[in-house]
Amino acid sequence: MGKGNKTVYFCQNCGYESAKWMGQCPGCRDWNTFVEETVSSKASSKGAGKLRKVQEPVSLQQIDLQEDERKTSGIDELDRVLGGGIVPGSLVLVGGDPGIGKSTLLLQVCQHLANDGIQVLYISGEESLRQIKLRAQRIGEISNQLQLLCETNLQTIREIIERKKPEVVIIDSIQTMYDEEIASAPGSVSQVRESTNVLMQIAKGMNVSIFIVGHVTKEGNVAGPRVLEHMVDTVLYFEGDRHASYRILRGVKNRFGSTNEIGVFEMRSSGLEEVKNPSEFLLDGRPEGASGSVVACSIEGTRPILIEIQALVCQSNFGMPRRTAAGTDFNRVNLLMAVLEKRAGLNLSSSDAYVNIAGGIRMNEPAIDLGIVLALVSSYRDWIIPDSILVFGEVGLSGEVRAVSMAEQRVLEAKKLGFEKVILPKACQKSIMNPIEGIQLLYVETIRDAIQIVRDRF
Ligand code: TYD
Ligand code: MG
Repeated sequence: MGKGNKTVYFCQNCGYESAKWMGQCPGCRDWNTFVEETVSSKASSKGAGKLRKVQEPVSLQQIDLQEDERKTSGIDELDRVLGGGIVPGSLVLVGGDPGIGKSTLLLQVCQHLANDGIQVLYISGEESLRQIKLRAQRIGEISNQLQLLCETNLQTIREIIERKKPEVVIIDSIQTMYDEEIASAPGSVSQVRESTNVLMQIAKGMNVSIFIVGHVTKEGNVAGPRVLEHMVDTVLYFEGDRHASYRILRGVKNRFGSTNEIGVFEMRSSGLEEVKNPSEFLLDGRPEGASGSVVACSIEGTRPILIEIQALVCQSNFGMPRRTAAGTDFNRVNLLMAVLEKRAGLNLSSSDAYVNIAGGIRMNEPAIDLGIVLALVSSYRDWIIPDSILVFGEVGLSGEVRAVSMAEQRVLEAKKLGFEKVILPKACQKSIMNPIEGIQLLYVETIRDAIQIVRDRF
């Protein structure tokens, strides 16, 4: 080992750095994730030196915004998640499980950009040119403005970007890239971190927009992209059930727009197709006249999305009742069941309960609380909640139904999809300014009120 090199241990899950090996990571509490890596003390300063220009401070007025004009990616759902298009010089991380469709999405972005006459460079460290060509054939015609490269050495990549001057670069994936000056293997925390650093300098120094693909895996020695979330400008996660056909692109960090915005896609045999109306798509196939099913509304970013919440409550055969929550927070479901038990007098302690958000989408907004509560009640009592009813509201520990934001948008979305009645918090009454015709609003103050409405009216 050369002079100036030392070894440290990195948690491969969260990037926690330690001088000695530890069984449990103090950062993310994961076990057995520390791996020894060599870091050279020159490494951290090296990248910065190469492209460093001495710059004078400027005042706000001197900054020209014209340069920052966004490019449309040609995919509306992606543009919205990005905050209105691709910002020049931005570094965007696209994370997700292997096989979810990251390469497909980015190749489609390349397709649209190239067909618009924008110079695009797609660099793959995972697939051969032939494989990329095969995928490209599935998604359709691509103009010659798209250049492909199979390369994993970042110094070579830097030289090529300097020479070819593309406007947009795709790096697929960060786990395969390596910087010669770092001794550890590609995919290790120090390598991934340093590679991102180099790409950051390329993006900012040459005003190129760079998309980085990162795989999220918990096991093995591949560093999770979580370690680089704080370095990049925008973090998008691609999620969804691999067995279901649709995919959700979620913005979790965005320096150029609002976060939590989602884009919905469907995986077809000819690539990813945008889903313009996700509510309709997610409610498709809802059972009619079944107990335990309720439609709730969650705001994702700026958009209301209707989802079906399903609950199944049945007699427990063991002393320990089984509870599961798919698509929402397990602890939240347990809490809501405790509230139901104490405040509404339901005897759930000897019942198994399974809660599921239909379609495999994940929703954590508290506004779906009341939906979960009514789905549980509906299943427990075997009452059928008609499918023309939408429910939203946050539930507090004393069984009160609390106000949620953007009530009017939620009601309007329900109306658009043909719902007739909405059960919503009383406290939202003042935030709904204009009378909304054609839809009945049923205000409730506590979960007891809501349960009563369900019992008496339907
Ligand atoms: P891919 O983009 O390779 O995933 P990632 O880069 O995230 O690992 O896509 C993987 C899956 O998508 C693969 O199982 C095949 C499927 N697929 C389609 O269903 N239709 C298509 O048009 C394409 C290109 C892929
Ligand atoms: Mg891929």
